[in-house]
Amino acid sequence: MIARSERTRPVATIGSGRMRALVTGGAGFIGSHLADRLVNDGHRVTVVDNESTGRRSNVPRGARYLKGDVTCLDELEAVFAEGLDVVLHVVGQVSLIRSYADPAFDLLTNVLGTINVLRFCLKHRVPRLLYASSMTVYGHAASLPTPEDTPCCPVSYYGITKYAGERYVHTTAERVDLDFEFRVTSFRMYNVYGPRQALDNPYQGVLGIFLGNLLRGEPLTIFGDGEQSRDFVYIDDVVDAWVAAIDCRNTDGQAFNLGSGRRISINDLADHVLAAFECTRLTHPVEYRPRRPGEQRHVEADIARARFALSWAPRTSFAEGLAKTALWARQTFTDQNASATTPGRGIP
Ligand code: UD1
Repeated sequence: MIARSERTRPVATIGSGRMRALVTGGAGFIGSHLADRLVNDGHRVTVVDNESTGRRSNVPRGARYLKGDVTCLDELEAVFAEGLDVVLHVVGQVSLIRSYADPAFDLLTNVLGTINVLRFCLKHRVPRLLYASSMTVYGHAASLPTPEDTPCCPVSYYGITKYAGERYVHTTAERVDLDFEFRVTSFRMYNVYGPRQALDNPYQGVLGIFLGNLLRGEPLTIFGDGEQSRDFVYIDDVVDAWVAAIDCRNTDGQAFNLGSGRRISINDLADHVLAAFECTRLTHPVEYRPRRPGEQRHVEADIARARFALSWAPRTSFAEGLAKTALWARQTFTDQNASATTPGRGIP
């Protein structure tokens, strides 16, 4: 438990004080990078994660870690009761395919989990909440690049629950019956990639899947004709925006696209990933399978709003980000094989 005097102090400001921050999903890819940055900036960080896809080893040393589930009220309340200055709510069921296979689980995690976090933010008067939304809220956007004021019409079950979570967050902050200032911001993240992305989970981001395929000597699989496109944004750039927003009042009540502002087709992505391992389609098989349900065709962020409000711009080119991610993936794969009894196939 922390001292009462600390519990009642007002919200700290980045750079001027030590904040008490909670990162839900902080053992996962995006959450653990956020926790890393906050710890490095000197803040007091608590991570809650149920380890469904996250790994305890991702949690930074300087953070307090609690294995817990946002859908379980008892596990969550203990963290809030100690007092928090900011919550970074990253927990989510992120697989579009799983949202079809198990819509109730998707709803439970993404909507009920968010409602639970909101409930405790209000009960324990947490002044600041940042929410991990997704570009999937737009559905088949009428314009590319897509600005935030584009009407949201999600075309997947997953998109529906992410958008519902976003609306719960913003509608809660607008409640006229609140007796304290509750400031919220959402980030509609595009295809975030980088170190710690899953290499062995077929339901997580395509770039990590392709890297894992190559390292294990498996064919790359492309769903549809491969001409669908995505906007890939490097993890460090995403973390920059989240952390800058905590103390930036220009972001209150708003949603921000976090993408690179340019799109790449999945065919081109496959070629770039192959090239990063000195392979081509002549030396490594690439297979095509039917399109999956709920897929957006083209995706590209208009990032003007974040540029303006946060003075933010992505710093990492795709070539640089891919090189860093491929290096990390190769190292991780080598380490895992060194500790396994049977050596893996594929690229060392
Ligand atoms: C992804 C995230 C989602 C996030 C959104 C915005 C995952 C699983 N989904 O959605 O959580 O909200 O970005 O950041 O991380 N593909 C292949 N072969 C594969 C895997 C995928 O061709 O082996 C294709 C897919 O069919 C799709 C594209 O690659 O057209 C991107 O797929 P994916 O990385 O799964 O993510 P999104 O659906 O874009």
